[in-house]
Amino acid sequence: MAQSASPLPNNSEDQQKIRLLIVDDIPETRENLRKLLFFEPDIDVVGAATSGEEGIQMAIELQPDIVLMDINMPGIDGITASERITQEVPMCQIIMMSVQGEADYLRRSMLAGAREFLIKPFSSDELVRSIRRVYQLGLQRRQAMPVAVPGAAGAVKAEELETAGKIVAVFSPKGGVGCSVLAVNLAIALQQNAAIKVAVVDTSLQFGDVGVLLNLYASRTIADLASLADELDNELISDIFLPHSSGVKALLAPPRPEVADTVSPPLVAEVLNRVRKMYDIVVVDTGSVLDDVVLNVLDLSDKIIVVTTPEIPAIKNVKLFFEVTEQLEYDRSRIMFVLNKTDRRINIRAEDIEANLKYRIEAQLPYDERTVTMSVNQGIPYVLSSKNSVLAQATVALGKQLLKSFEESEE
Ligand SMILES: Nc1ncnc2c1ncn2[C@@H]1O[C@H](COP(=O)(O)OP(=O)(O)O)[C@@H](O)[C@H]1O
Ligand SMILES: [Mg+2]
Repeated sequence: MAQSASPLPNNSEDQQKIRLLIVDDIPETRENLRKLLFFEPDIDVVGAATSGEEGIQMAIELQPDIVLMDINMPGIDGITASERITQEVPMCQIIMMSVQGEADYLRRSMLAGAREFLIKPFSSDELVRSIRRVYQLGLQRRQAMPVAVPGAAGAVKAEELETAGKIVAVFSPKGGVGCSVLAVNLAIALQQNAAIKVAVVDTSLQFGDVGVLLNLYASRTIADLASLADELDNELISDIFLPHSSGVKALLAPPRPEVADTVSPPLVAEVLNRVRKMYDIVVVDTGSVLDDVVLNVLDLSDKIIVVTTPEIPAIKNVKLFFEVTEQLEYDRSRIMFVLNKTDRRINIRAEDIEANLKYRIEAQLPYDERTVTMSVNQGIPYVLSSKNSVLAQATVALGKQLLKSFEESEE
């Protein structure tokens, strides 16, 4: 029954906001920071202190997740205040702000317990990204702590652990359309966007690509769970996930095709059912054959991203697949139809495909051979290595769209 601790909020509906305290002696700066953060849906400014002393006091009272601390203040300066807050409110993460970026300041801030150092002036983008990153780190750190401090901010409630995260399958009935590339990039895009915990699971058991796409060595894979099928527990499953530097955790496919058979379809289903309780979103890459493994994955999925390219064979197979989904009585809202590798030079247009399949295309990703080839060869997903490419931006937008659809379905 009891699960190993995962103090993360599980879905967007009751997801906790990041509670943030501002400490700065200059009124305009406090006001500006409030304004910059006002429209961020996941950040809640719970207070603004005008001095180091007040900052310490308010941190103890309010138990914020994050303190945004000015370094230069009359009286108790930001560094001393940070030291005190780190002692008194250990769950709280501190981001230091300074006009100077001197190495000595930076070093002293870090020693005082600050997790991040922002140099003024910074953009609202930089600020928000830092806040989310530091918050994530804080959650990971809390998770690593053996016992949650009773009553402290973020202490886990048993019922929170039971909420199920969303499973998002990325599937195509035609190989080579870009499912695997999309699955890893989408997972990372989701992980960057919000204070959520994202996993990627490779169920393309014979020729799984997630490992190479993320440049992760398959020291542990789903095949290791096969011999332990009778004694599966969440701890075993957590151990088998490999951490990627983006924060995403990956469960890889077996290292060799002949091992694939040891992983049974029911095992895949059981693993996914457990994994969804440990993460907010589980992106599942699938093979392109409608076998029992894939059908199990699709059955369990909250969203099935069906990928096609503007090519007749791929479109034909999607058409057949949509017929299958109707027989299986999958609700249309569970399917998100995505057109990959769009290219102005190709004369099959999105509208033509929509008309032919009577299915709306919800997102389009451009053909960008250069970006994708470079990214896959380096093992660095393009949402990280080519952030500014149209493809990366379209993938990030797809992630946002996905989160929105989950929010809406919960209303
Ligand atoms: N948007 C894109 N633009 C150009 N090439 C792409 C794009 N997406 C994927 N590819 C390429 O398509 C090929 C198949 O991708 P992959 O993700 O392995 O497909 P699948 O998992 O559907 O079999 C790879 O060579 C990849 O580099
Ligand atoms: Mg693939």
